[in-house]
Amino acid sequence: MKEINETQYEKMAIQWFPGHMTKARRMIGEDLKLVDAVCELLDARIPQSSRNPDIDSLTAGKPRLVVMNRCDLADPELTARWRAFFRSQGLAVLETDAKTGTGIKRFPQAVRALLRDKLAELEARGQGNRPLRVMILGIPNVGKSTFINRLAGRKAAVAGDRPGVTRGKQWITIDNSLLLLDTPGILWPRFESQEVGEALALTNAIKAEVVDRETLAANFMLRLRATRPEVLAARYKFQPAADLDGFGLLEEAGRKRGFLISGGEVDTERMANVLLNEYHEGRLGRLTLETPPEVSP
Ligand code: G4P
Repeated sequence: MKEINETQYEKMAIQWFPGHMTKARRMIGEDLKLVDAVCELLDARIPQSSRNPDIDSLTAGKPRLVVMNRCDLADPELTARWRAFFRSQGLAVLETDAKTGTGIKRFPQAVRALLRDKLAELEARGQGNRPLRVMILGIPNVGKSTFINRLAGRKAAVAGDRPGVTRGKQWITIDNSLLLLDTPGILWPRFESQEVGEALALTNAIKAEVVDRETLAANFMLRLRATRPEVLAARYKFQPAADLDGFGLLEEAGRKRGFLISGGEVDTERMANVLLNEYHEGRLGRLTLETPPEVSP
């Protein structure tokens, strides 16, 4: 089977290294002095892979809130487990669907709860009216602009950052008690393994042209067979045989869909695109690709 090869990963990583990352690191370091807390947006379908690998050291010392966005597309049971995991790491957690606005209204309250001590301190100094300032971070395409615009109730952030493209930061007033610091396009994702790369590509965090979509879809088929075979039966109407490789599974699904080309061959490229698009649109159901480490109760 073809594999997403190292060159493709190098290509992804090259968009970030080394200049962009150094600059981003410096910018975050400087901006941290201006804020009371840091909020990192994650994709709830890949809470592990959509985290910046250096976020803990980058934001050390600041109270932190993790927002699991796109929870409308994620498995609710796994989202609850991830919530427990992040809480066990000392992080405040909020789940949102920025597209429709679900969960967004709880953000100001979550920030106030996180910064309870800071608020008390400000009040003691007679500065109880000073707005809380929160830095918003997230890897590209995680839904940061949509989230900010929802929260602000207007178009305050520009959507569609390109990886590696840094733009100026901006302050966004949510109300007179809360300011957001938007640092567009500066957080880099992980580039640590093929599995992580695929998770990022499946959720569109990495632009599709840097990976071979057919290979990505074939590997996704294998992942589905291993973890959620019922999805294949429900959506593509076949029981995935254990002896087929990923391309064989794509072929099987394509055949069921009637995607045939001359000579009776299955158009696996078309099936690959259908599978990836249907996942993107949530038509395979609410599917989370990563499981959290166990948390002892
Ligand atoms: P960014 O600033 O982090 O780069 O991301 P942006 O807000 O531009 O969002 C990227 C895409 O994700 C947008 O869709 C947006 O509507 C969608 N999105 C953001 N939050 C959520 C969410 O909670 N749930 C769902 N289902 N979608 C969300 P788009 O530009 O139309 O592209 P597409 O990815 O939908 O095709």
